[in-house]
Amino acid sequence: MGGSQSSKTTAGTSARGEGRGHALGGSAVAVLGASGGLGSAIARALAGRGSRLLLAGRDPSRLGALGLGTPLVGVDVRDPGCGQRIAEAAVRTLDGLDGLIDATGVVAFGSLLDHDDDTIEELFLTNAMGPLWPVRGVLPLLEASRGFVAQLSAVVAERPPAGMSVSAATRAALTATDDALARELRAIEAGEPSVPSTAFTVGVRDEG
Ligand SMILES: NC(=O)c1ccc[n+]([C@@H]2O[C@H](COP(=O)([O-])OP(=O)(O)OC[C@H]3O[C@@H](n4cnc5c(N)ncnc54)[C@H](OP(=O)(O)O)[C@@H]3O)[C@@H](O)[C@H]2O)c1
Repeated sequence: MGGSQSSKTTAGTSARGEGRGHALGGSAVAVLGASGGLGSAIARALAGRGSRLLLAGRDPSRLGALGLGTPLVGVDVRDPGCGQRIAEAAVRTLDGLDGLIDATGVVAFGSLLDHDDDTIEELFLTNAMGPLWPVRGVLPLLEASRGFVAQLSAVVAERPPAGMSVSAATRAALTATDDALARELRAIEAGEPSVPSTAFTVGVRDEG
């Protein structure tokens, strides 16, 4: 597997699509981190397939700059209330939610001694705790639609290199969260993300 991983958890048979999972056309999907490299590519790919999108991120003007003409909601994943705000915006603008894609993240390189307190805190708040809040907020909507969650982790979670002790630890937390969440939702489905690769190859962890 290449540089990043995406695991997709789903509640099973779609209410709107055929068989397992959702047909993307017409589905209501919130993309978090849509101002980023991967998030913007994912948002464009979904828009091209006819999904109805809600873009979420810290700066609505950066989200609007994508030019997709979708509803926007300003959220910071360090805020435990961000999931509720995404859920409310989804109900208001999309009449519900079929999927959440979380492409947020921060990274820092260097030895542990190079990381100051604020950097370590920011990494854990954003990468380890941050992914919990959006999922927790929108889960009731996804349960209702039998929808899906996709979160981008990183290969450093499983093969942590020197110089990334903190960043790798935060992504390992996300990967563990994903594993447990998939079991909680009692259905797992993995598929190749329909987004262009960046500097690293985007891969998929097959949970078997
Ligand atoms: N790019 C790769 O090849 C690669 C490889 C391995 C893993 N990954 C993983 O994939 C994810 C995305 O990578 P990327 O290359 O697209 O990164 P990126 O271009 O730096 O984008 C990061 C995104 O996260 C958002 N973000 C950061 N902190 C946030 C916060 N507190 N609240 C809300 N949003 C926040 C940023 O929003 P702002 O616009 O507000 O800054 C931006 O939209 C990361 O988790 C990374 O670990 C990527």
